[in-house]
Amino acid sequence: MPDLAELLANNRRWAGQQTQRDPQFFERLCEIQMPDYLWIGCADSRVPANEIVGLAPGELFVHRNVANVVSPGDPNCEAVVQYAVEALSIKHIIVCGHYGCGGVRAVLGEPLQGAIDRWLEPVRYVRLAHAAELDSMPDVDARWRRLCELNVAAQVQSVSRIPYVREAWHRSKPLAIHGWIYDLRDGVLRDLRVGMSALAHAH
Ligand code: CO
Repeated sequence: MPDLAELLANNRRWAGQQTQRDPQFFERLCEIQMPDYLWIGCADSRVPANEIVGLAPGELFVHRNVANVVSPGDPNCEAVVQYAVEALSIKHIIVCGHYGCGGVRAVLGEPLQGAIDRWLEPVRYVRLAHAAELDSMPDVDARWRRLCELNVAAQVQSVSRIPYVREAWHRSKPLAIHGWIYDLRDGVLRDLRVGMSALAHAH
């Protein structure tokens, strides 16, 4: 594992390469950020948002937490969504879960202690809401995969209930929410087709 000095050395090399390739790179980024997408994903180190969708700095507004949870009333997530919608006029919010999510796995096991247990409450709720389907599955791996998907769908719904999103739809601003899942095994993202848009909302 690289030590901290190596991380700083890596950074100098990266900054140098960026400037070499594009002398105005940092200058431009300082002026303004105009990303088209907000990414709400898991904090898992194996799911680096920009990298897996091939976007450069300045192109993706990112919020990450354990198990990509959009918890009602969470000021952190709601502030990100407010800024994304009101200030950046972002048109696409991508809620991205991933198979093999440890946070999702945790609610299929024994209760945890402390902050992580409280944080995962909404995921536990998803599990309970879909208990019949999940309990009918042959093994814990199948249940785990399915719950990762159901969690994305539930968090898409949670985003749709955030007042700033409602307000944007009310004003007929183009804003869509998408539910995607990332597979750690092959690096492929899949659209779960659980998204919502202003159009769907209006009907
Ligand atoms: Co995860």
